[in-house]
Amino acid sequence: MSFFCFKLTKKLSKNRILAPIIQNKLKIKNMKVTVVGAGAVGASCAEYIAIKNFAAEVVLLDIKEGYAEGKAMDLMQTASLNGFDTKITGSTSDYSKTANSDVCVITSGIPRKPGMTREELIGINAGIVKMVAASLIEHSPNTIIIVVSNPMDTMTYLVHKTTGLPKNKIIGMGGALDSARFKYRLAEALGAPISDIDGMVIGGHSDKGMVPLTRLATRNSVPVSEFISKERLDQVMQDTKVGGATLTGLLGTSAWYAPGAAVSGMVQAIACDTKKIFPCSSLLEGEYGLNDLCIGVPVVLGKNGIESIVEINLTDAEKAHMQESAEGVSKTNDLLEL
Ligand code: LAC
Repeated sequence: MSFFCFKLTKKLSKNRILAPIIQNKLKIKNMKVTVVGAGAVGASCAEYIAIKNFAAEVVLLDIKEGYAEGKAMDLMQTASLNGFDTKITGSTSDYSKTANSDVCVITSGIPRKPGMTREELIGINAGIVKMVAASLIEHSPNTIIIVVSNPMDTMTYLVHKTTGLPKNKIIGMGGALDSARFKYRLAEALGAPISDIDGMVIGGHSDKGMVPLTRLATRNSVPVSEFISKERLDQVMQDTKVGGATLTGLLGTSAWYAPGAAVSGMVQAIACDTKKIFPCSSLLEGEYGLNDLCIGVPVVLGKNGIESIVEINLTDAEKAHMQESAEGVSKTNDLLEL
């Protein structure tokens, strides 16, 4: 903080009207985030959260001896270079270090390899996610949980079924990532800057289940259909749906930069109570005509986690696509031993 900023902050803190604003800022700075799994996705989450500099502390956990500690140390050595004050620490499996986390991110489990679907990971990942969620809640009973592990919608449902957390506090990352991939593909097709593009993917986080809402996608509020043909738009939709699989084929394992950035955006919206809309996997109880499953829908994110679910009017074709997606997610949920 510059000397001027310091003096100004001190002066403003004494101002009765502005003091709550300053205090709120300090409160945001007290935010503690735990990321379980210090693999590529977990480390990227920690890195992006730290770089955005809104959290006081990030705790990384990984069962591989020394791994989380090493990643935390390496990341901390970027702090002076990247200009953040967030303190990152790592531990093997000492959950007491995660105590009183405001947000916990679960990335644990195995990632998919080329040719695998996310659904195939359920056998190994379900046991891990269940154990991790229980250990986190033991030390942070009021936390908000963000689930990244795959199959993500089913793992989010599992956390709902096996913990007593209220539904607004369990959020699946998927739509936030898929929407970023959708915008990337749209920008490419339109030859436009990504910052000019808006678009959203709802539905399940799977190759078949994603529902990119091409009808609502815009370039600076102009429908994208004004710029490209229906055939090109269909191609964008297809490329978006296999976005993760394409990267797995290229990298030999699941992607990490965009998943990490998507999580950090969600954590920031919660930490800073921005009330921004993200498509996230949420427990539905009648919304979109669906019940008893977690699937991607637009939600408002704020300090309480999911502040509300946004129900938008879908066309018959989009509704049918969503219904088909929900059937796929429910089928995977049926494989859980609850
Ligand atoms: C992906 C993983 C995170 O889509 O599911 O890259």
